[in-house]
Amino acid sequence: MRAVRIHRFGAPDVVVLEEIPVPQPGAGEVLVRVAAAGVAPWDAIIREGHSKVSPQPPLTLGSDLAGVVESVGPKVSDFKPGDEIYGVTNPQFCGAQAEYAVAAAGMIAVKPAGLSFLEAASAPVVAVTAWQMLFEYAEAKRGQTVMVLGAAGSVGRYVVQMALNAGIDVVAVIRMRDAEMVRALGVERIVDADAADPAAGLSGMNAILDLIGGDMTERCLPALKLGGKVISVVSAKPLPRWPEVPAAFFYAEVTTDRLNTLTELFDRGKIKPMVGSVLPLAQARYAHEMLAGHPHQPGKIVLEVMPNRWSPVPGAAAARA
Ligand SMILES: NC(=O)c1ccc[n+]([C@@H]2O[C@H](COP(=O)([O-])OP(=O)(O)OC[C@H]3O[C@@H](n4cnc5c(N)ncnc54)[C@H](OP(=O)(O)O)[C@@H]3O)[C@@H](O)[C@H]2O)c1
Repeated sequence: MRAVRIHRFGAPDVVVLEEIPVPQPGAGEVLVRVAAAGVAPWDAIIREGHSKVSPQPPLTLGSDLAGVVESVGPKVSDFKPGDEIYGVTNPQFCGAQAEYAVAAAGMIAVKPAGLSFLEAASAPVVAVTAWQMLFEYAEAKRGQTVMVLGAAGSVGRYVVQMALNAGIDVVAVIRMRDAEMVRALGVERIVDADAADPAAGLSGMNAILDLIGGDMTERCLPALKLGGKVISVVSAKPLPRWPEVPAAFFYAEVTTDRLNTLTELFDRGKIKPMVGSVLPLAQARYAHEMLAGHPHQPGKIVLEVMPNRWSPVPGAAAARA
């Protein structure tokens, strides 16, 4: 089968497409015929050798996938061959960008009926991250306000949709070129991330949700309510000037239960995916160049692994870069 591989850490040019044997599922695992696989910032972190969780090369890149269960390993009772699923391969976030991938049965779920494979493959890690950030770590509640740093990105758009859907107000810190898209999600309060003082005139935030890193969190801290929390999925660094502020960093934990919660939101139309550039598996290196700054369509980059076989996603042709 064809797989997107690296044999050493480095720039996008270490990414190669090669033939490797189809992997076999072990206990608690399923073999998935991959229809589509997401491409994400943490794929670049893995490719560069900066991930704390991924294995040494050679390795197959990719964590998010959608496809059809081909076979199941021992001790798998929740899935059977033919099931259409979406989710993540394993806690090492590797192995999805290939024609077949082994996935932990506890990290996948039945694909939302209303999503195409491309859309479903765009969602798992970013949507689960948003859910955990907002509800499990920030414990945001109806009537509260959260300040989302990087609200226009893949995780941020889900945070915004989930928050507004739950009656939680959002202040979105974004680059102004994304303002129209973020307003279209229903956000009324937008802050220019390039402003000299992004916290100017703001107070009473129940949480600051950091998807950007750098010094943005510290610059926004004056807007945080006393007792408010800072949650980051980007930076595990402490806030030395604000030691009293409760701060947490976490890695997303994609589970069947959390995916099932998202499936319900997708099926009820409460959250929507945003697929950006769609590329064939053979152009995975180009997708990595996009991660490194090459222009691409707004939204999630997705590799279409099985073109022609699966139902096309509406608008995907227009989204192709
Ligand atoms: N710990 C975990 O488990 C976990 C899970 C998921 C994601 N993450 C991390 O979370 C981050 C966000 O992920 P994502 O998938 O949402 O990425 P993304 O789609 O690239 O979104 C990031 C957004 O932040 C914006 N941004 C970056 N730097 C900015 C700045 N200085 N000022 C204003 N806006 C800025 C980007 O704008 P531009 O495109 O204009 O730069 C983009 O809109 C990534 O670093 C990712 O690796 C971590």
